[in-house]
Amino acid sequence: MSQLLVKSVAKRAIAGGYFRRYLATATGTRVLTPTFGVPAAASGVQVERFSVVLVGWKRMMSTAAEPTSSPPPSTEKAKKSSELPMEKVERGDMVVSSYWGISRPKIKREDGTEWPWNCFMPWETYAADLSIDLHKHHAPKTFMDKVAYRTVKLLRIPTDLFFKRRYGCRAMMLETVAAVPGMVGGMLLHLRSLRKFQQSGGWIKALLEEAENERMHLMTMVELVKPKWYERLLVLTVQGVFFNGFFAVYLISPKLAHRIVGYLEEEAIHSYTEYLKDIESGAIENVAAPAIAIDYWRLPKDATLKDVITVIRADEAHHRDVNHFASDIHYQGKELREAPAPVGYH
Ligand SMILES: [Fe+2]
Ligand SMILES: [Fe+2]
Repeated sequence: MSQLLVKSVAKRAIAGGYFRRYLATATGTRVLTPTFGVPAAASGVQVERFSVVLVGWKRMMSTAAEPTSSPPPSTEKAKKSSELPMEKVERGDMVVSSYWGISRPKIKREDGTEWPWNCFMPWETYAADLSIDLHKHHAPKTFMDKVAYRTVKLLRIPTDLFFKRRYGCRAMMLETVAAVPGMVGGMLLHLRSLRKFQQSGGWIKALLEEAENERMHLMTMVELVKPKWYERLLVLTVQGVFFNGFFAVYLISPKLAHRIVGYLEEEAIHSYTEYLKDIESGAIENVAAPAIAIDYWRLPKDATLKDVITVIRADEAHHRDVNHFASDIHYQGKELREAPAPVGYH
């Protein structure tokens, strides 16, 4: 009984059950229930203020395209919104604040159509370098390299056992991990730059770009694979362990940390190659590419899953080269800032 209760609470917390109830309130589909000790008959203005903030939050966290045409607010809603101190007006699921003067100019695609994404802009898109060598490998020679290589190979065992050939799920889960090292490295270099009054040679930006690129891989995979509640729970656990572990390793030895990432990227190339084999054999359906991927990688409108996996694999090969290079710089007894960073390509 108690096991069932724990499972139910975990499932709802991970799947955002409670939060969805809040969001449902924000979009006006339900009233607040007494679950949180808030009576259903709470003040309308308070509920509306809360709703506006949550809708804004939902918009910011969303990777979905913004609706090109928003319905005008209803008279009643507009009246309530005008009572808010910041004169926030709700339009569809978008929040506009006239008080802070924050607004996004209208942006167009090259073909003149409206740019639908808030999470990235046209100047952040790029065409992946498909000519990159996928077979490069850093042969581990030193003790530290061997530790890095063996660590990554060991980490692959539970991954293979858990996911087997479910490459969509596997890729989605691994991207939640892959986006961590760039952020940790970028953050630590940022703090170092502040502490030492030194430029970073562009490496802060390069590593943060890598983290963002990996996150876009995840945002793309999530359009193709819907994670189950226990997979979300696994992500929480793995992120907690991996973030702290990688943070400690990067503090102690950036040389080792970058080498580990280099080998992780080599494994990612292998996984995506297997994914492509399953698409080519028909074991995985070659569905249409998600809209977010078409815009992010400047793919043709009729691009497919195979095209998306091909460009993601090319990105991983680039991350492999950047991280092995970063480790090599440390091996030469130098700091990253002494070698120009590969900024501008993810
Ligand atoms: Fe990735
Ligand atoms: Fe990567």
